[in-house]
Parts: sequence; structure tokens; C-alpha cells
Amino acid sequence: MRIITRLADLREETVRLRHHGTLALVPTMGALHEGHLTLVREARAAAASVVVSIFVNPRQFGPNEDLDAYPRQLERDAQALQGEGVTVLWAPEPGEVYPPGYATNISVAGVSSGLCGGDRPGHFDGVATVVCKLFNQVRPDMAFFGEKDWQQLAVIRRMARDLDLTFPPVEAIHGVAIVREADGLAMSSRNAYLSPVQRTAAAALPRAMREAISALQSGSPAAEALAGMRSRLAAAGFDPVDYAELRDGESLQEVERPGPATRLFVAARIGTTRLIDNMAVGARQ
Ligand code: PAF
Repeated sequence: MRIITRLADLREETVRLRHHGTLALVPTMGALHEGHLTLVREARAAAASVVVSIFVNPRQFGPNEDLDAYPRQLERDAQALQGEGVTVLWAPEPGEVYPPGYATNISVAGVSSGLCGGDRPGHFDGVATVVCKLFNQVRPDMAFFGEKDWQQLAVIRRMARDLDLTFPPVEAIHGVAIVREADGLAMSSRNAYLSPVQRTAAAALPRAMREAISALQSGSPAAEALAGMRSRLAAAGFDPVDYAELRDGESLQEVERPGPATRLFVAARIGTTRLIDNMAVGARQ
């Protein structure tokens, strides 16, 4: 595996790799866990070469968010990626991605609003902007993202469709199912912030979501099922619940009555750590 930090070297290497076949990109912010490694394995199975980017993107963090505290462990991440047979680790410094005078922003309306877009103003502009740049830097045939950040995936697909991106085309932007710990908690780099007591309590999040989904499937009104879930989360120590909503999995429009494509989306804080999760409510995943 080659570790590259300069854009000029990346361009040279990706031109060379493209002669050997297809190229997949797995964009990450590092602090890699099994969820990321699952994306890497899917990418490896699908493409001749795999580029993983590690870049803690300052533009997607709000002024009061955890940019400085965000876990950084490049050496450990590089070892894990080497073990997975990754071809290139693209690890630029912020100045390489946003040189002095950088002035462009990509803003995706509609799917960016509400949910995490409501709680984190500007977050999805930062995500869309950096992902568009990463796509242009690497020019991959395909890209892989985790479904834990379902809204992020919807934003990226909308951007790719609207901007007629061809590297990769929207059909080659793949979502990979959430990887969960044994107690059901969705894997996330932010789980590292949890104290042992909070970590145990955090398992209440997926549990309460499953209970709400069974209530909905047995015909409980949405408001009642969501209120029950909020109370169970509060009892487990989540405060506040930033949102708990039923939305269509594709358009991300709010739905009153669950249908086959409905998903349950939740963000809730335990201590200072904000956890998000989403699950299918209807038959369609
Ligand atoms: O999901 C993430 O880790 C980040 O939002 C991404 C897609 C790498 C963009 O910085």
C-alpha cells in the first residue's frame, strides 16, 4: 500500500492504476473500525484497485463541534488498511485540499434539510464539497459509503445526479449496510468518546428503535410509537433526543403513516456524544 499526501502524486498514481482495471474509492475521516473495513472489503471485491481517503474535513464541522477532538490515529489506520490489501491511502493535509483562497461550496437542497441538516447547519455543504473534491481527485469508477449516515448518502447521490458526475456515476455510488456491535449499537468512530457506563447505556438506542418498529408494525400510531421510544431513551440516559422521525428512505420526506420504504431516523446525545442510527420500518430495506 502506498501512502500519498500530495495531490500531484495521487494523480500520477491513479492514472497508472487505471491501466490495470477499475478503481474504487472509500472516503473516510479515519479512526477506522469494522464498519469502515467492511466498506473496504466490498470495494476490494468489486474493483482492481482501492483508494481509501482519510481526511478529517474541517468544513463539515460546526463552530461548536468536535473537530479538534475528533480521533486521529493515522498510523493504526494505515496498518489496518495494509492488512485489507488497500492499494493507496490518500491522506492529504487540510492545506492540500483547501489551499489559500479556496472559495467554492456545494450545497444540495432538499435532502440536506431536516434530520442532521437541521441540527448541524452547513454540515452537508461541507460533506458534499469534500466528497465532490475527493471524486475529482481520485476519479474512481465506484465509491462506497456506510448506510449509518443514510442522509449523507442521499445528499451525495443527489449531488452526483444533479452535477452529472461520471467518476463515479450515481449508479456506482454504493451504500453498505450498517455494521453493529454484538449489543446492536451501530459502529461509529464517535463510540470511542463513550465512558464504559455510557457505552453500556448506548445499547438502548437500537433496542428502543426496534421496539418502536415492532409497535408500528403491530399497528400503533406513529406518534405513540415515537413517544414510547423517546421515553425509553430518556430512561436510559439519552438527553436530548435531537430527532426521532419517520421518513421515506429515498426522498427523505417525512411520512405520517409508514409504508414499504419508510425508515426510522434517530439522533440522541448521551453525555456530550451524539449518536445517530436508522432502520427500515417497512418491508423494503
Ligand atoms: O462519513 C464520513 O466519514 C465523512 O462524512 C466523509 C464522507 C468521508 C466526508 O468527509
